[in-house]
Amino acid sequence: MSMLKVNGLQAGYGESQVLFDVSLSVEPGQIVSLLGRNGMGKTTTLNCVMGNIAPMAGGLEFAGQSIIGAKAHLISQAGIALVPEGRQIFPNLSARENLIATQRAPNYDHAAELWTLERVLAMFPGLAPRLNSPGNLLSGGEQQMLAIGRALLTNPRLLLLDDATEGLAPQVREEIWQCLAGLKSTNLSIMVVDKNLTDLLTVADSHYVIEKGRIVWQGDSAALQSSTDVKERYLGI
Ligand SMILES: Nc1ncnc2c1ncn2[C@@H]1O[C@H](COP(=O)(O)OP(=O)(O)O)[C@@H](O)[C@H]1O
Ligand SMILES: [Mg+2]
Repeated sequence: MSMLKVNGLQAGYGESQVLFDVSLSVEPGQIVSLLGRNGMGKTTTLNCVMGNIAPMAGGLEFAGQSIIGAKAHLISQAGIALVPEGRQIFPNLSARENLIATQRAPNYDHAAELWTLERVLAMFPGLAPRLNSPGNLLSGGEQQMLAIGRALLTNPRLLLLDDATEGLAPQVREEIWQCLAGLKSTNLSIMVVDKNLTDLLTVADSHYVIEKGRIVWQGDSAALQSSTDVKERYLGI
């Protein structure tokens, strides 16, 4: 059974349709990337999966159950967590408060080790001395670690990351990629949006390319690596 199955998804904002035909799936324990130029519908897709946007048509299945039309808090309870574009850290809460604000034990069958504040700090030791600082005083890298830690503390089965390393320094990017590889080894399923194709080719199992709200290509890293045409046409590389 797939962890996530998106089928013929259509969505938009008011009268303006943005997603026309998005179909993709994430298998348990896989890292899947969603690639495409700016404005093609990556964030909209993730927000539909998370329940932040109600789709116009199509199917969304999570762990075998339809989640179409479900509200974000129910989708979160079911085991999906989003690390949003721009991080969306609560600026006036301390780092610790940001981390534990949405902490929750899973309400589904959960074989994996539970996430705790200590476990997040073991993964991102740099956050430990910053726990009492307000969210808005953290660096971009610290904020992204905070956003990932916050998502993990909801004990998800599927982690969605939007622009995972956008605007971060190279060492911090490396830390984020290593974190994702480590999470994969715990059997977490991950869907990641990012611009760093080289890193995604290493860390992800399969890739989808979105162009104007339609999935136009899918394949594994070897196929994408050798597909000069796809890279030129859809990714501008
Ligand atoms: N809140 C919004 N209201 C209206 N249009 C939006 C909104 N958010 C995004 N769009 C439009 O939807 C399209 C897809 O955006 P988005 O999903 O953010 O793309 P991506 O994440 O691939 O850059 C773009 O044309 C964008 O301008
Ligand atoms: Mg986006």
